[in-house]
Amino acid sequence: MTTIKIFDTTLRDGEQSPGVNLNQLEKLEIAKQLERLGVDVMEAGFPASSQGDFDAVKKIADTVTTSTVAALARANKQDIDRAWDAIKGAKKPRIHVFIATSPIHMKDKLKKTPEEVIDIAVNMVSYAKSKCDDIEFSAEDASRSELPFLATIVEKVIDAGATVINLPDTVGYTTPKEYGAMFKYMKNHVKNIDQVDLSTHCHDDLGMALINSIAGVENGATQVEGTINGIGERAGNVALEEMAVTFEIRKDFYPFKTNLTLNEIKRTSDIISKLTGMVVPGNKAVVGRNAFAHESGIHQDGVLKNAQTYEIITPELVGVTSNSLVLGKHSGRHAFKDKMKQLGFSLDEDKVSVAFDQFKQLTDRKKEVTDDDLFVILMDVQTDI
Ligand code: KIV
Ligand code: ZN
Repeated sequence: MTTIKIFDTTLRDGEQSPGVNLNQLEKLEIAKQLERLGVDVMEAGFPASSQGDFDAVKKIADTVTTSTVAALARANKQDIDRAWDAIKGAKKPRIHVFIATSPIHMKDKLKKTPEEVIDIAVNMVSYAKSKCDDIEFSAEDASRSELPFLATIVEKVIDAGATVINLPDTVGYTTPKEYGAMFKYMKNHVKNIDQVDLSTHCHDDLGMALINSIAGVENGATQVEGTINGIGERAGNVALEEMAVTFEIRKDFYPFKTNLTLNEIKRTSDIISKLTGMVVPGNKAVVGRNAFAHESGIHQDGVLKNAQTYEIITPELVGVTSNSLVLGKHSGRHAFKDKMKQLGFSLDEDKVSVAFDQFKQLTDRKKEVTDDDLFVILMDVQTDI
């Protein structure tokens, strides 16, 4: 089994979903849960984009200890300086530098020749390297780039110090065969390619983000970038929970695994859905409300006799509990703390007391307190510093 590294970009590409705007405390909350989930790398944001994003990335970098914390930067010195200032306190910092390499982006967006783009990429990767050991280089719109040109720029940025090469399908246009072939081409034509991690980054415009990411992995990628719940720019990014669970459920077929703690998936999905306001569709694979619900009589009959007749993923695998503990005015502190843990919070005892009091007051006004009610109370208490 080969372990595929998971690079989560929920806090950067995910936050680029139209309508999503997370504040610093919300971002920190998500970062802590991503660390609990076991992501190898989390992209905390794009520090040059705003002071708010800079502050959030810095807070995350100063808090997270086990995952690498990456910050995005365009290929210019100001962006790289901002990125480094935000993440230099991290235990494992990574600067992520990108520039577009497709003919249409170079000509119409950057207004640069291919030679100029190579020069900028090489100079900026070595500039970033003078600050930080771990440098990821992304060739934006790689899947619409010319392969010989892509191979040339990749080889040169590796010589300049890149440790990870990411080849995004920025516009979700590629097919599994083409995307896989691009990775194979790099493996066969770039002399120093084995010095780095190769990474996929797939958008879902044609609904192929998962299968394209898998094609990349089958052809040599050792890192997959994506988001929880598949949120992200336009139609979103590959849903990392789908990737990790596919490898687990079909380990008879795919020789790959991830470091994710699978039973943290549901909680992570819930927290991100609540904080971003992006509702998870009921029929969404792995984390949707209906993913483990059986409606037809024939299916219910089969599941009662043997769950595996219609259930390929057990709810417990991804942290869905069959236990539906309802909290009301007769519930005690113990049940309250239990629920609090299920919702992903770990408050100190003083804060538990404050939250428990607020919960009790609510039960005088409301017969049944929902997870959403509790979430609001717990978030308020937790962030009241
Ligand atoms: O989709 C993309 O190309 C990106 C890059 C900035 C990595 O998000
Ligand atoms: Zn992207």
